[in-house]
Amino acid sequence: MVVSNGTATLSLTLAAVGIEPGDEVIVPALSFVATAAAPMHLLAVPVFVAIDPDTFNMTPAVVEAAMARVRAIVVVHLHGLPADMDEINAVARRHGLPVVEDAAQAHNAHYRGRPAGAIGTIGTLSLNVSKNLATCGEGCLVTTDDEGLARRVAPLRQFGELSGTGTPRTYIPHMLGWNNKPHAIQPAFTRSQLRRFPADLLRRERNIRPFLDRIADLPGFLATHPLLDQHILRFRGDPAAFGLDDRYMGPVRAEVQRALRAEGVPATPYQSMPLPTQHMFRAAHGFDAWLWRLAGTRTQPGGPDAFPAVFRVIEDSFATQEAHLHPDAGPLLAHYASAFEKVWQNRDDLTRLATALTYTPPWE
Ligand SMILES: Cc1ncc(COP(=O)(O)O)c(C=O)c1O
Repeated sequence: MVVSNGTATLSLTLAAVGIEPGDEVIVPALSFVATAAAPMHLLAVPVFVAIDPDTFNMTPAVVEAAMARVRAIVVVHLHGLPADMDEINAVARRHGLPVVEDAAQAHNAHYRGRPAGAIGTIGTLSLNVSKNLATCGEGCLVTTDDEGLARRVAPLRQFGELSGTGTPRTYIPHMLGWNNKPHAIQPAFTRSQLRRFPADLLRRERNIRPFLDRIADLPGFLATHPLLDQHILRFRGDPAAFGLDDRYMGPVRAEVQRALRAEGVPATPYQSMPLPTQHMFRAAHGFDAWLWRLAGTRTQPGGPDAFPAVFRVIEDSFATQEAHLHPDAGPLLAHYASAFEKVWQNRDDLTRLATALTYTPPWE
């Protein structure tokens, strides 16, 4: 089924699995804000968990440790790197919880042979223009093999109405629903993209592989999981390779990013703050902070001590976003690779600049 956008779909799927006001929903501390805003739109409380710095995803251990009043888990496959779904599903089963897969960045990502979005209880795949599989504007796919859930999602999407294909619309609401239908053009556009998707994937792979091979020769930049269909390419800077200790990971990343940008590579941080440190959550904005005044709601610390791996990843890495997804991006990626090589060749200058930099971390 297609819904109007990924953010609305996350709320809708959480409603479909039975999330109610005051329920807690586990979300990763590193993601796009929508992952954590979606439970709040249902007056549910996001409970942030740490990530593994190698995969950028939540782990089964942190999910298990966060249980209390939790009623659902939203797992994100960040940048198209799949989370450890077998173990997370096992934790969820032990606690009788549904798993919503936020696969916005993971079209065609596979975990042990299964496609992301088809492994949890229900999956959402945003079709926003920036995604691997897009529509013309906004949209989102919902996936589930649970008939009952699918039957709940449909009326939630359209005013609580029960309407079958080919039967006239009744206009009778049977539950509180939203109006989150897409325009007919959007699924049609995606369907046409879907026909080209396998061929485009092959072309992407042919472009990205030589690019990542060239970067792999440069010890200063770690593309931790060089998957060829990654939505966002994220590179972690290694201060040791620049002859510096960990105190300089932020300045090294900042100078590398600046130099790459000067060479035409759109290097930017992807998320400059962990979600729990973002103003919206720290100041408990939304609904007059009602959620955070509910009896028993946990207040979560948001400082570097609470989520060290998230702070570290934000401090030492940058992303090149999605220009690599264009099937004709080969020459562009060759240019990017030359820019990375040039920056690495000039590492002595960068090291000097990094040690002299008056540095402010992105979250400040
Ligand atoms: C991880 C993640 N979740 C949710 C969303 C929200 O999707 P949309 O932009 O379609 O609302 C995005 C996208 O931008 C995302 O990257």
